Amino acid sequence: MKSKASAPGKVILFGEHFVVYGVKAILCSIDKRVTVTAEKTNERKISINSKIGKLDLEADKSIFEINSPLKPFYYLANKAIKNENSGIHIEIDSEIPLGAGLGSSSACCVAGAAAIFKLFGEISKEKILEYAIEAERTIFENTSGADCTVCTYGGIMEYDKNNGFKKIEDEPNFQLVIANSNIEHSTQSMVSNVKEFENKNKEKFSELSELESKLVEDVLKLVKENKIDEIGEKINQNQKYLEIIGISNNELTKMIKIGQESSFGAKITGSGGGGCIFTLTNESNLQQVLKKFKDSNYECFSSKIDFKGLNTF
Ligand code: PMV
Repeated sequence: MKSKASAPGKVILFGEHFVVYGVKAILCSIDKRVTVTAEKTNERKISINSKIGKLDLEADKSIFEINSPLKPFYYLANKAIKNENSGIHIEIDSEIPLGAGLGSSSACCVAGAAAIFKLFGEISKEKILEYAIEAERTIFENTSGADCTVCTYGGIMEYDKNNGFKKIEDEPNFQLVIANSNIEHSTQSMVSNVKEFENKNKEKFSELSELESKLVEDVLKLVKENKIDEIGEKINQNQKYLEIIGISNNELTKMIKIGQESSFGAKITGSGGGGCIFTLTNESNLQQVLKKFKDSNYECFSSKIDFKGLNTF
């Protein structure tokens, strides 16, 4: 018996890092997906196959013994077969660039939780999200949970750690161009760097958090009114706050400049230090923005908001 699920990647439009400290963020899921296929096996083993590697281990090991980027899948499979007399084989197929701030690990956790637990009966989206966040915590303990939430429910949403998410029902009329620095980054270490900044600059950080909160509230109004120029300006403003907390670098700044000069606005998405930036575009400038990045030899693609979220089949 096989079970299959897919989940979208995501972009953090506003509020990464600050969201870890309780500030509201705005996220959307994108039309690039991870698909996970899970299958029960007779042998009490957990085997995982993906482009980034393989894992083939006996079940019932402590999660602390596992040293692999595929650890969240092991965690989920082991949890699912705890009271079962079987093993699990998992296949992962992803269109989302890895370690690039596009939610590839969260989409893996969400699609993984759904495919694996569906082997043993019906399971609600709420429960899938709960297990996905648990699995993500095996590689990144302090996750705000924002990424897994948007990968589960899709669309565009506001999210805060204490109150959870609220979908934004207006369907904004924009497209994103996502450009990859191809510099790998670790969310865990970028979040630690920001923690260090916060420790050393308490007052400044709390001032920035307030500014970020105000910016997010302004954007929520602008989205309703579909004011793309003004949303773009807020994106550029958010980028400035991210630069102050130290998550940008020369390469990202160069990319942001290209984006800001050719679109409505551009900023980093995710933890920074590498990974991707996005620009806000519509039909009037989409092709021109793509050309600018391509001419400068950056890997880039256009992306629409995914409104489906987790899909099981
Ligand atoms: O893993 P990334 O690069 O998509 O970044 C996650 C977003 C952070 O706000 C930096 C951390 C979090 O858990 O929200």
